[in-house]
This record gives sequence, C-alpha cells and structure tokens, in this order.
Amino acid sequence: MHLNPSTLSESELYKLMSGAVSPRPIAWVSTVSKKGLFNLAPFSFFTVASSKPPMLCISIGSGEGDRNGIPKDTLTNIRDTYEFVVNFVPYNLIQEMEKSSKNYDPCIDEFIVAGVNKLKSTIVNPPGVKESPIQFECKLENIIPLGKDHLVIGKVVHICVQNESYQNGKLDLIKLQPVGRLAGNYTHIQNIFTL
Ligand SMILES: Cc1cc2nc3c(=O)[nH]c(=O)nc-3n(C[C@H](O)[C@H](O)[C@H](O)COP(=O)(O)O)c2cc1C
Repeated sequence: MHLNPSTLSESELYKLMSGAVSPRPIAWVSTVSKKGLFNLAPFSFFTVASSKPPMLCISIGSGEGDRNGIPKDTLTNIRDTYEFVVNFVPYNLIQEMEKSSKNYDPCIDEFIVAGVNKLKSTIVNPPGVKESPIQFECKLENIIPLGKDHLVIGKVVHICVQNESYQNGKLDLIKLQPVGRLAGNYTHIQNIFTL
C-alpha cells in the first residue's frame, strides 16, 4: 500500500506514525512555572538528540482540543524558565505517570495528583521525581516550531542515577524496567537478547 501523507488527516497521520515509531521511551518531564508552580507530564515523542554534548529532545503537541489552543504547561514553563528535568519511567511508576498526563489547570501540582515526591535537583530549579531511578537535569538549548508542534531540545547539565541500577558504567535495564509507549498502549522489557 502506498500512502501520500498530504492526503491523510492529522489523526490518520498521528495514528500511523505513533504506531510505527514504537516502542517509544517516555520522558516524564518536570518543570516549574515563572510563578513557582510545579508541573509534571509524560512525553513519548522523546529521544537522545546528541550524546556529546548530551542532549535530549521532546516534541510537544499543540494545545488544541479541550485546551482551546492554550499551549501545554510544560512548553510554557520551559519557554519561561529555560529549565526542565527528564525523569525515567520504570514499570512500577506507570500508574503515577499516567495520572500526571491529564489536562490539569496550571495551578495543579501533578506531583501531588500522581502521588510522587519531589527530589531537589543539583543544578536546575525544577525538582525531579524522587521515586524515579534516573533524572536528567536539562537547560534549554533550542525550541524549534514544527507545524503545530514544538521540538524542545535540552542540554543535560546533571544526571542522577540510582546506585544499584548503574554498575561499572552500565545501566541494568532488567532492574530499571523501562516502559515503552506503543500507539496508545504500553510495553515493558521482559526479553533482552544479543545478536
Ligand atoms: C505515555 C504518554 C505519552 C505522551 N506523549 C506526549 C508527547 O510526546 N507529546 C505531547 O504533546 N503530549 C504527550 N502526551 C500528552 C501529555 O502528557 C498531556 O497533554 C499533558 O496533559 C501535558 O501536560 P502539561 O499541560 O502539564 O504540559 C503523552 C501522554 C502520555 C500518557
């Protein structure tokens, strides 16, 4: 089957691309607004943008639909403060992560809604998620508007990794149990193999 993207609707393209580009890791992003309000939300349009200098990127969608065109709080906060933390999502925090994904008013602290604690960051102002085994503290490098979405690139300025998951320079992914996003469902690592 050959498909011309220009003939597909936004929702058809979203379903096709998010299904085909899977499993995707999930960045659980914490930010603070310029008024000092805490925010936490997951983003699976997420990857490593560069390893040296270390950079991560997330794509933040438009604030359409029930948001009436108001940008997502994460984008607003990063635009205003130039800082964010990417927290790793292990399988045991999937419920908490999902709870933090709803469209809450900016004054709602999703750490509280999700039932997770704040971990004071070392360099940036936004706290990380204490229960998460890895926190990447990021300073904004660039925001690139792409259509209705925004690609946010952050330079990693500090990394906090749980001791028992990082030995001899290697992450123990069986211990870490990363969760992947499929189209709308999730997966987690149960089988690691070598070629
Ligand atoms: C697993 C998961 C992955 C998500 N990935 C994205 C994403 O990559 N980009 C995006 O704009 N929204 C994504 N969302 C939706 C946002 O998390 C959601 O819009 C959230 O309310 C944004 O919060 P904020 O307004 O506090 O920034 C995802 C939701 C879930 C549950």
